[in-house]
This record gives sequence, C-alpha cells and structure tokens, in this order.
Amino acid sequence: MDIRHLKYFVAVVEEQSFTKASERLFIAQPPLSRQIQNLEDELGLPLLERGSRPIKTTEAGQFFYQYAKRILGNMEQMVSMTRRVGQADKTLKVGFVGSLLLGLLPQIIFEFRKLLPNVNIELVEMGTFEQLEALKSGKIDVGFGRLKFSDPAIARILLRDESLVLAVNEHEPRFIGFDGVYLSDIADEVLWCYPNVGDHTFANYIKNVFAEHGLSPKGIRYISNIQLALGMVASGEGISIVPQNSKAISMANLKYLPILDAGAVSPIFLSFRNGDDGEFIQLLLKTIETIYRQIGINQQITLNHQSDL
Ligand code: BEZ
Repeated sequence: MDIRHLKYFVAVVEEQSFTKASERLFIAQPPLSRQIQNLEDELGLPLLERGSRPIKTTEAGQFFYQYAKRILGNMEQMVSMTRRVGQADKTLKVGFVGSLLLGLLPQIIFEFRKLLPNVNIELVEMGTFEQLEALKSGKIDVGFGRLKFSDPAIARILLRDESLVLAVNEHEPRFIGFDGVYLSDIADEVLWCYPNVGDHTFANYIKNVFAEHGLSPKGIRYISNIQLALGMVASGEGISIVPQNSKAISMANLKYLPILDAGAVSPIFLSFRNGDDGEFIQLLLKTIETIYRQIGINQQITLNHQSDL
C-alpha cells in the first residue's frame, strides 16, 4: 500500500463514482478499479459496497477514508511547512550601484519581497566592479550595475539601456532656450563626474561616451557621488551627465536636458554567479519584466546571458 492508493480511494469516495474519480485523477477507469481492488485484497475486506450507485463505503471503508484523509492532509502540511522552514533563514544579498536607487530598483525589490515573504533580502550599495568580487566571495548573490566586465565565473544580463541626461543650472545663460544638447556642445565645460576613486568607474564610462564621438572633455572634475555632483551644478558650478532616472532628484535651480547623440546611454546589468540562475534569479527577472511592462518599457530580457562581452 502506498500514498497513491490513499489518494485513489479518497477520490472514489468523494466523487461516489469511478468515472468521476478517474477524471479527477487524470487516469483511466480500469487501472483505478484495479488499484482499489488491490487495496481491498491487501486489507482482506471490502471497503466499498458492491453494486451500490452512487458508490457507498462499508463501515471499514468509512474508517479507512477518514484515516486516509488525515494522512494526506498531514502530507500536504509537511510539504508546505518544510518549504517554509527551508526558506525561513534564507537571505538574498543584492548589490547595487547607488544611482539605481533613484529609479526602478526600490519598486523592483518591493515587489520581489512580496513574492518571497520568508526570504530576507538585504541591499548593499557598491560599485559595479566591487560587485564582481562580492559575487565571487559570496558577499552578495545578485548585483545590479552599470558597467560591463568580463569574468568566466560571473553571468551578466543586459536589462536595458537607460538614457543619459545633462544636469545644468537653469540660470546658466549658455543653456537657456536649449531643448537638448550634443556632447560636442559641452566638451569644454566644467563636468562633474563620480565617483572620485577607482579605475573602472561611471566617471570613466562617461569619458568613453565622449571618446566614442571623437571628443575629449576638457573640464572633468571628480566628486564622490551623484548627489554631490548635482549639488555642485545647482549651486552654479559646472554641469554633470547622469542617468535619466536621476531626474528624481530635484533641487532649486537644477534642470535636466536630453543628450541628443545616439549611444548616450547607460546600460543596466544584472549579474550573478554562473550556474546560479535558479529560482531567485528567474523570479527576479519576472518581477523586472512585469514592472517594465506596467510602465511601458518595451524590453525583452533574454536569459541568454553573457559572461565575456
Ligand atoms: C531599471 O531602471 O531598469 C532597473 C533598475 C534597477 C534594477 C533593475 C532595473
């Protein structure tokens, strides 16, 4: 006797018919009848009254039915509780670059938490290259970054390209009346770039964006983070190139202009340890896709991830 026998017997009793029970169980009627017969043979007594329509249990059958229901109920409970226990102390550590917190990251994480109420999700701010080491050492499990890097141990998925915009002081006469700017318009300006430490940084990425258009910005100044860069601009000193989501930061005298050159974008990547693309990553990608769809970002996220672009 095994669990299958209990399930079959319970279905026959509850449906009061072999035909309906076989439909509910998605099996043919002859094997169902055979299994019930085997059960009765093993117990050495009838569980169903022969010839009754609708089917009725014998006294022993009613007793067996009640017991079988309890065992099946306990099994279901065992499965769900084991899942919960297994998840209870799970922690998913998510590394992210600071500017993503100004855009969709909070919404994505908020929705993701709802899907995994028993998982402890920890957010850790760090640069994209720090994420590489943190992924390898297990300090984080997932990283959201803005720069490309190559490492055979790490998989990377491009989520989307976010537009770059120019932050200017709205009273700066050179930009009054502008609806947008080209990089060539601003190559000689004081340009605040962040961060001010490290080699593989967003600051270097911005320099490369200029280089791709054959330009070399003349007035680069380095500062530790985006808020400080925007504060400098708002106070009347220089300009800064920032991802579009940074428009969430509003300060007196600060305005944002579109950058009109093709390719003036900042990619957003999701990274994780190669081979680690299990339930969490799939769920995270689904959450991102759903939010993109809700807010009209038409972006196909492909699981064909790259580790060495
Ligand atoms: C986004 O803006 O597309 C984004 C931000 C953070 C995480 C994932 C996606």
